[in-house]
Amino acid sequence: MPFINDVIASNAKVIDEDKAKSATGRVSRFRFDPEQAIEVLKSRIIGQADMHGAIADMLHVVKADFGSGDRPLAVFLFVGSTGVGKTETVRVLAEVILGAADQMCRIDMNTLAQEHYTAALTGAPPGYVGSKENHSLFDFEKIEGSYSRPGIVLFDEIEKSSKEVARALLNVLDSGRLELSAGTKRLNFNNCLIFMTSNEGARELDAYRRKFERGWRSWFGRNPSKEREKSILNGALRRQFDLEFINRIDRIVVFEELGVRVLSDILAVEMSMLNKRLARHGVAVRLDESARSFLIDGHDPRYGARHLRRRIRAHLEPELARAFNTERGCHMFLASSRAGSLVVSAESA
Ligand SMILES: Nc1ncnc2c1ncn2[C@@H]1O[C@H](COP(=O)(O)OP(=O)(O)OP(=O)(O)O)[C@@H](O)[C@H]1O
Ligand SMILES: [Mg+2]
Repeated sequence: MPFINDVIASNAKVIDEDKAKSATGRVSRFRFDPEQAIEVLKSRIIGQADMHGAIADMLHVVKADFGSGDRPLAVFLFVGSTGVGKTETVRVLAEVILGAADQMCRIDMNTLAQEHYTAALTGAPPGYVGSKENHSLFDFEKIEGSYSRPGIVLFDEIEKSSKEVARALLNVLDSGRLELSAGTKRLNFNNCLIFMTSNEGARELDAYRRKFERGWRSWFGRNPSKEREKSILNGALRRQFDLEFINRIDRIVVFEELGVRVLSDILAVEMSMLNKRLARHGVAVRLDESARSFLIDGHDPRYGARHLRRRIRAHLEPELARAFNTERGCHMFLASSRAGSLVVSAESA
């Protein structure tokens, strides 16, 4: 594994300066274009305007590259209920910035639910089995990134890990360093975007917001108070995390529940991705209005977009596959809902 300085020196030679130049002609070592990244993010993650704004701010600051270099490039916590796009946001960013979602280092924190699992991140202490091998769930190269690309680390579902495991990350969030227990290796997170996701506080926040959708508050046109929302969220986060931990986060972004209107836009995104995959076989599928309502039917905001994905997988894909396997020479399929189920038929192009 080369030192970061060697990587910097070798990448500096190959960097394409035209691509790295900003609109002002200044050259940044980072090759990604913040505006383009945000466009892609907006087209893939629907709704969530607060997140789009926060990520745009962060990407511009990172691209400008005037940070001190003695802490991670950014430390974000995404909070929100299940299936609202928290993990998917980081996957999309990894695709845009690093070229593929699997180029980021994702740590599933629910696998680290007990305090002794801290060793899974920091390596086994001296004298214990594996201490010399520096075994850690961290993928060192993905963390350090390169001269022209930041590393991306995702601590997914952080509230499910033990408090001890979260404490082991304090130094990472603060000074961007993690010394493995054996003392033979130090990981550097200073060229890294750190994201964490959590459901903590989301339920209380959504319950508070829902009170304003019906009842006397809605009759009098009352809106949820931002101050009250902040205190609900902070209260919930403080119950789960130490104050030192919360204090090291640059920005806490709250993801909204997904309403039915947002869901039909998400269905359009899912269909365009499906059609991209089908295009490899020279085939396309179109939903009529009845099929669209059939797939969205039964949406419960508490479960986010996962219900929609399940319905696509359970109802649309099998029918489409059947038509795909039997209708020869057909380029276009139409899905519609009949008698409570989805029917896919060949459509003349
Ligand atoms: N706002 C959104 N826009 C587009 N697609 C979305 C959105 N929210 C969720 N999805 C879809 O739903 C799937 C689940 O989303 P994701 O994995 O990001 O959920 P999550 O917020 O991380 O939930 P959990 O807390 O349960 O992990 C994604 O693969 C994505 O396709
Ligand atoms: Mg998730």
